[in-house]
Amino acid sequence: MLQGKNILIGVTAGIASYKINLLVRSLVQHNAHVKCIMTPSAKDFISPLTLATLSQNPVAVEFWNSKNGEWENHVKLAEWADLFVIAPLTLNTLSKMSHGGCDNLLLATYFSAKCPVVVCPAMDLDMYAHPVTKQNLALLEKHDVKVIPAEEGFLASGLEGKGRMAEPSTIFDYIATHFYCTKQLEGQKILITAGPTYEAIDPVRFIGNHSSGKMGYSLAKSALNQGAEVVLISGPSQQILDHEKLTIVKVKTALEMLAAVQEHFASVDLGIFAAAVSDYRPAETKAQKIKKSQEKMELHLIKNPDILAWAGKNKTVNQLLCGFALETQNGEKHAREKLTRKNLDFIVMNTLEDEGAGFGHDTNKVLLLDKNNNSKKVELSNKNKIANEIISYIYSNQ
Ligand code: CTP
Repeated sequence: MLQGKNILIGVTAGIASYKINLLVRSLVQHNAHVKCIMTPSAKDFISPLTLATLSQNPVAVEFWNSKNGEWENHVKLAEWADLFVIAPLTLNTLSKMSHGGCDNLLLATYFSAKCPVVVCPAMDLDMYAHPVTKQNLALLEKHDVKVIPAEEGFLASGLEGKGRMAEPSTIFDYIATHFYCTKQLEGQKILITAGPTYEAIDPVRFIGNHSSGKMGYSLAKSALNQGAEVVLISGPSQQILDHEKLTIVKVKTALEMLAAVQEHFASVDLGIFAAAVSDYRPAETKAQKIKKSQEKMELHLIKNPDILAWAGKNKTVNQLLCGFALETQNGEKHAREKLTRKNLDFIVMNTLEDEGAGFGHDTNKVLLLDKNNNSKKVELSNKNKIANEIISYIYSNQ
């Protein structure tokens, strides 16, 4: 997939740079050609020797190569790259990139680059939230630099919040999606629902579930990689996806998800409903935070609309529809019933009985069923592979 691609990795002086070793190793394992540039201060965080060994190429740091006295030609490095990924991106380098500062080789290479550039900011939560940081990131985006946003979690400072560099696997997926595009689904438009829904009880509490959104986002990635246009309707999720043929509609509640599906469904060829929609919502959302005044509290819930069933009722003969079924017992029987009841063409059954399958995991194990009683088992694999299997099953059994 990445065979022969030239990927330039720029490393700046952030603690997260230790994770770059994993990214470089994965890229090389997938047969990409990798070269690394570091800022001089990044050497305080990881050794150029490690990156040189993993990338199988010398690491460039200074304008002059002190060993052979030769000039490190930043223009040549920039020309060599099919993609330039700067990770981690510190606030200092961000500021220079957005305002023309050019006091090291990495920056000179950035300003010479004609290839697409991707940055992965990493900083403490207050620095990341600072308006100047936001402005500078927006400036980079204005100049067509792709930003893979920082993630929530524990930070090197001991604080917790948004600022961690995106995980190496997320950066890898972005790079893979950037390069791997077959044309098999060119001309197809696919709607995918993903993630949980959050149903507000009051301004601070909600009813939700453990869905991570990974399965739906993997499906979107797979469809995009094969040339399809995708409308991804996503409940709250940490997943990130960016592609020129992708429209993301972010929603919180089942009602919002239904409205988004109703807006887009008529224009698509296929709908894949992977979202874990909350079946019920509070009958009333309190405007103010509920105080813990009484010993007992009752919450009155009402049923949410079944979004997939709406699509089943409204689909035309030219549209295909695929649902998901998460079962805990008699999986195949219940899934087949759902397939008929909701007027589906396909259903993907996963069960919480299987280790590593279902919510939250990077892996899944599924049984694919169609309306003509065909079925196919897909053994435990990562969700990207499962997504490819689902899409190829749909298009070969339509
Ligand atoms: N789904 C939906 N809207 C809902 C509930 C579910 O679109 N309000 C979709 C899911 O995205 C999934 C499929 O329906 O594709 C299966 O959902 P599930 O909750 O397992 O099925 P139900 O028909 O609700 O049956 P049950 O909860 O009784 O198992």
